Amino acid sequence: MAFGGITAVFWLLVLTQVHGGASLSSGTADGMERWGYVEVRPKAHIFWWYIQSLQRVPSPMKPWPTILWLQGGPGQSGIGLGNFAEIGPLDVDLNPRNSTWLQKADLIFVENPVGVGFSYVDDLSALAKTDLQAAKDLAELLKELAKEIPTLQSSPLFLVGESYGGKLAAKTGVLVARAIRAGTLELTLGGVVLGDSWISPDDYALSYPWLLEGVSRLDDNAVGKGIMMAVKVKQQMAAGQFVAAYTTWVNLLDMIDSRSGSVNMENFMLDTTVSSVLSDSAARPLLLPGNSQAANNGSNKVSDTVNGFLKQKFKIIPKDFIWQQVSLQVFDALANDFMKPAINEVDELLSYGVNVTVYNGQYDVICSTLGAEAWVKRLKWDGLHNFLSLPRKPLHYCHPYYLTNGFVRSYKNLHFYWILGAGHTVPVDRPCTALYMISSIVQSPAN
Ligand SMILES: *[C@@H]1O[C@H](CO)[C@@H](O)[C@H](O)[C@H]1NC(C)=O
Ligand SMILES: *[C@@H]1O[C@H](CO)[C@@H](O)[C@H](O)[C@H]1NC(C)=O
Ligand SMILES: *[C@@H]1O[C@H](CO)[C@@H](O)[C@H](O)[C@H]1NC(C)=O
Repeated sequence: MAFGGITAVFWLLVLTQVHGGASLSSGTADGMERWGYVEVRPKAHIFWWYIQSLQRVPSPMKPWPTILWLQGGPGQSGIGLGNFAEIGPLDVDLNPRNSTWLQKADLIFVENPVGVGFSYVDDLSALAKTDLQAAKDLAELLKELAKEIPTLQSSPLFLVGESYGGKLAAKTGVLVARAIRAGTLELTLGGVVLGDSWISPDDYALSYPWLLEGVSRLDDNAVGKGIMMAVKVKQQMAAGQFVAAYTTWVNLLDMIDSRSGSVNMENFMLDTTVSSVLSDSAARPLLLPGNSQAANNGSNKVSDTVNGFLKQKFKIIPKDFIWQQVSLQVFDALANDFMKPAINEVDELLSYGVNVTVYNGQYDVICSTLGAEAWVKRLKWDGLHNFLSLPRKPLHYCHPYYLTNGFVRSYKNLHFYWILGAGHTVPVDRPCTALYMISSIVQSPAN
């Protein structure tokens, strides 16, 4: 027994050393940017990139916030998509973006789950096979970042996820909140922000037929068929048959595609046959396996910029490494968890008093506003009744100010933003509205 104990201690030490030794970081000379790899588990190396805001004003009364951006997919790169197409300081042509969220907060992009973008595994068996594993990896990364990024100590951290990234933000938020409460992580969790997030697959599936009928993209017959398929998704999920539920959900999307004249599920004002801002750069977000195939084509602008400009800048990327916008291997590894909801995680965050903000684009179908409202109504949180009975406040963020950009409703620590004129990727479709919304959410001193 004693021998076994010694062996265990010995291995623990060795692992810690290997682990610690495998972290690698670098940055700009002025300290405004840092990036690096953290080996969050044996053979699992996550890449992160921190950018400090030029507008940063330290104030003890109103601390400067930090945003950790989590991309969707699962399998899409945050550095390719979130950074270059949505909220980063430069667009893919390396021109400044005047709506960058960097004006309001420091930014951290993470290539997540491990295997995405610059992140890599030494062995495919090290890919995350559950949402919980992906969230644990992020929580582990944050422990290291609390040491690597000095400003994080005094900066409230906001986990902002889009699409599947929102589900991981909720799961990670719970682990972070628990670790902070247990005293094992020294960070301030400013809040968890869920942008068009994949929190409740059955609520979304059930919303598609009604939503698309209301905007003339489906007729009665297709709606009847769609509801039957969505109910089957719900039943399969309830029975724990998540892989079967995924197949039914994909069949539902196929039926909608054929009966709607190929409506774009990320924006019902568009068709899939017409390219949007994102598909021009072959960087369509999300969820849809078909999208990922197109986005995986390495010969596009984002890929050229990341493999050229960024790889040169970062220096520490392994020499032969080729960055890709999407990892289908990461998507496939999470197949068993894809249809699992995260409503309980949102409830747990609310019960801790953590600020939870949901924002949703009006034209999104895949993670529709109707579906988001439906899962919010399923929360067990004791503030729910009061929240639902409050009127919404119209938002007039952007010129011309007589137009309404959206609505917000807040009660205690739950906040819901309805963003007009945007589809699945709000910062792409409504950059000005998104900027002032995030500024309000993170309580930026740069307001
Ligand atoms: C990738 O995109 C380029 C340019 O759009 C196209 O010519 C090429 O056929 C595509 N390759 C694949 C494998 O889809
Ligand atoms: C939650 O956000 C509100 C502003 O929206 C802020 O006043 C409050 O302090 C925040 N609470 C926590 C626990 O961060
Ligand atoms: C960015 O520039 C465009 C074009 O000049 C302008 O319409 C928009 O309002 C600007 N956005 C912000 C957030 O300043």
